[in-house]
Formats: sequence, structure tokens, C-alpha cells
Amino acid sequence: MTTERTPSHSILFVCLGNICRSPTAQAVFEAHLVTSSLADQIKVDSAGTAAYHLGKAPDPRSRAAARSRGYDLDHLRARQVTAEDFHQFDYILAMDADNLQQLEAMAPEHSRASLALFLDYAAATDQREVPDPYFGAGDGFETVLDLCEQASQGLLAHLQSESL
Ligand code: 4NP
Repeated sequence: MTTERTPSHSILFVCLGNICRSPTAQAVFEAHLVTSSLADQIKVDSAGTAAYHLGKAPDPRSRAAARSRGYDLDHLRARQVTAEDFHQFDYILAMDADNLQQLEAMAPEHSRASLALFLDYAAATDQREVPDPYFGAGDGFETVLDLCEQASQGLLAHLQSESL
């Protein structure tokens, strides 16, 4: 018999458009949870601070780069951060300082969520922001994946140290 557990932690990844970086972070972190048999204990989602691409699938370049490393983004759809998210999620993790500033500006009183940069959990790099790959050269999507993989490991270790 399998028993479903109610998630004990919840994490929302946030970027600008929710079609490149934050869906990649979501899929990479979810894959880490599956590998660690923790997928039923942590709820994961992603959203954008902007409404440019609402309802759209992730950028084809993000999907292709992710697929080549075994991550599936195809089922994800872009949405915008809402005030309710600050009550629903324990952690809201931004991809860059602009995203974090936007989140801080919109956080309601009595927000439950801790706001931080995702790369605060990436111990192996001094880089603090996941660079926006949307307008840049092709290898930006590989950099996004590299950074999301590093930060996912650190975030998972952090949650486990909090006796998840
Ligand atoms: P993301 O990338 O924030 O990582 O999803 C972007 C996607 C779209 C745009 C900018 C960044 N845009 O300007 O449309």
C-alpha cells in the first residue's frame, strides 16, 4: 500500500516571464526531490513577476536544453505571482535581484513566505543571480541549467538539515 503524505514544505521559484529560468528551476528541483524520494513532501511551483507570457509553455530553447539533460518542461504553463502566493508558500526564491525587489514590493502584510535569491543556496559559486537567457546567446540556457542544478543540491541539503 502506498500512503500519500501532505507536503510539509512549499517552494515557489520566480523569474520575470516564467518561461525560461523559473520553470527550469522548478523541473530541476523536482527531479532532485524524486531522486531523494521527497517528491510527496515538498510542493513546488513557479511564476513570473510579469504577465507577458501568461498561459504559454516554456521557451522552446529552455525545453530543448532541459530535455537534453533529462528534465521535462513541456507540461508547465506560465503564470504571474499573486498576493495569495505569499500565504501559500514557505519559500519564494527569485532568480535575480530585480525579481527579488519586485517580490519585496508586493509582499502583503503577514506574508508566510521567506524571500531569497535561489543562488543563496548554491555554495559552489559566487554568482548570486541566474542570468536572463531570453535575449542572449544560446549557451545562456546551459548556464541556467548548471546554476539550477547547483542551487537545487544546496536547497535540498538545507531543507533536509531542517529535519524535513
Ligand atoms: P525568464 O526570461 O524571466 O527567465 O522567463 C524572460 C522571458 C521573457 C522575457 C524576458 C525574460 N520577455 O521580455 O518577454
